[in-house]
Amino acid sequence: MNLVQKRLKIAVLISGRGSNMQALAQHADHYDICAVMANKPAAGIEIAKQAGLKTAIVNRKDFDSKTAHEKALAYEIENSGAEWICLAGYMAVLSAHFIARFAGRIINIHPSLLPEYKGLNTHQRVLNDGCPHHGVSVHLVTAELDDGALIAQMRLAVDETDTPDSLAARVLVLEHLIYPMVMNALAKGILELEEGFVYWHDSPPVLIPAECQLILGSAGSN
Ligand code: GRF
Repeated sequence: MNLVQKRLKIAVLISGRGSNMQALAQHADHYDICAVMANKPAAGIEIAKQAGLKTAIVNRKDFDSKTAHEKALAYEIENSGAEWICLAGYMAVLSAHFIARFAGRIINIHPSLLPEYKGLNTHQRVLNDGCPHHGVSVHLVTAELDDGALIAQMRLAVDETDTPDSLAARVLVLEHLIYPMVMNALAKGILELEEGFVYWHDSPPVLIPAECQLILGSAGSN
């Protein structure tokens, strides 16, 4: 009997250039992106359209309240058939109500080694502090900003010649590796995310630059 593995359906939420969305689309070996949505006109929406993906702009400006905007967004997501939501540079804090509606099914990518450097301007802050390491985290989303169980991280050594821009570029290379790695692993069952807990059953196949390290989250880590 030929067993057909079910492909995961993912909605990707963006607000800007959409390079992580593009990486997710280019490496979608075991999942399908059923919709790319933005909360404002975004360059990434045009890229997604060119890639033949379904897109929607649920513009915050068209709604009187955050609640009304999130309601419309949730409706679009549910209509797309998405099982998982990947935040990829989505520049709005989601309410506890929205997060509860998709409990345990929202994933985010953040350019720091969480729990260090939550929030914005992570590259500049890492350099200001003289931190020897920096990197990227993929984590489950909770109602707290940049919180939730860590799924995976990639770490690099900060170079003494690094500027915020060079560091951002080096981290972005890792972002484009780690997000598809996580979603393919989830689709293949190598990774399980249940009720806010993270279980890696095996190491995911991924080639990362020699000077970088992959760190896998463990059950309930954060
Ligand atoms: C990325 O650095 C991501 O980690 C952060 O926002 C940025 C989005 O970049 N959350 P892009 O739109 O995916 O190019």
